[in-house]
Amino acid sequence: MINLDKDMKEYGKNHKVPISLDDTLDFLIKTINDSNSKHILEIGTAIGYSSIAMAENTNCISIDSVELDHSRYLLAKENVAKHNLQDRITLYNEDALEYIKNSDKTYDFIYLDGPKGQYINYLPYLMKILKVNGIIFADNLYFHGMVTGAIPVSKGCRAMIKGLHKYIDEINSNPNLDTKIYDIGDGIGISKRIK
Ligand SMILES: C[S@@+](CC[C@H](N)C(=O)[O-])C[C@H]1O[C@@H](n2cnc3c(N)ncnc32)[C@H](O)[C@@H]1O
Repeated sequence: MINLDKDMKEYGKNHKVPISLDDTLDFLIKTINDSNSKHILEIGTAIGYSSIAMAENTNCISIDSVELDHSRYLLAKENVAKHNLQDRITLYNEDALEYIKNSDKTYDFIYLDGPKGQYINYLPYLMKILKVNGIIFADNLYFHGMVTGAIPVSKGCRAMIKGLHKYIDEINSNPNLDTKIYDIGDGIGISKRIK
């Protein structure tokens, strides 16, 4: 059993802040621990729930997490401080694309949980900052069944679903990646950079 902050989960539910599902977090923690990943980048902090879960349930050294929304970023900052994790979690209040374009850091694990339609645009930059043997763990690849065709794609989601299809095609065909897609949570893609 992993350790999760129940109050933050409740806050997410009550304030309609999207946060990772329990089985997604279980799988995320297991993947980080099995790969012994030490330096993590998270795209999409929200209020810090998954950052804190990763810090408290793995031996990672650092987590950099990027969030565009200012009020969520401020709440995440408070939550990280409450958990005394400021020395391991660094939060960035900016557009993830700008962060990854300009980052001079490298990571051995990337938790991709930001805007779903952008995953495909992020991928070339992520490949530059992901170490060889590093992992991209991408959430919501099924997007509630709209990607798999289980439910019709709603009008407002068309561009996003198209972007997710492109991302899935790319991670499955990119010769530098070894990818498996798991029917866990809302669909999870694990891509290991093999060269
Ligand atoms: C699914 S939530 C993240 C949940 C979080 N990982 C957790 O489980 O606690 C996605 C977040 O990405 C943020 N986001 C959306 N577009 C973004 C962008 N362009 N750059 C950075 N963050 C963005 C949203 O504001 C939202 O808080």
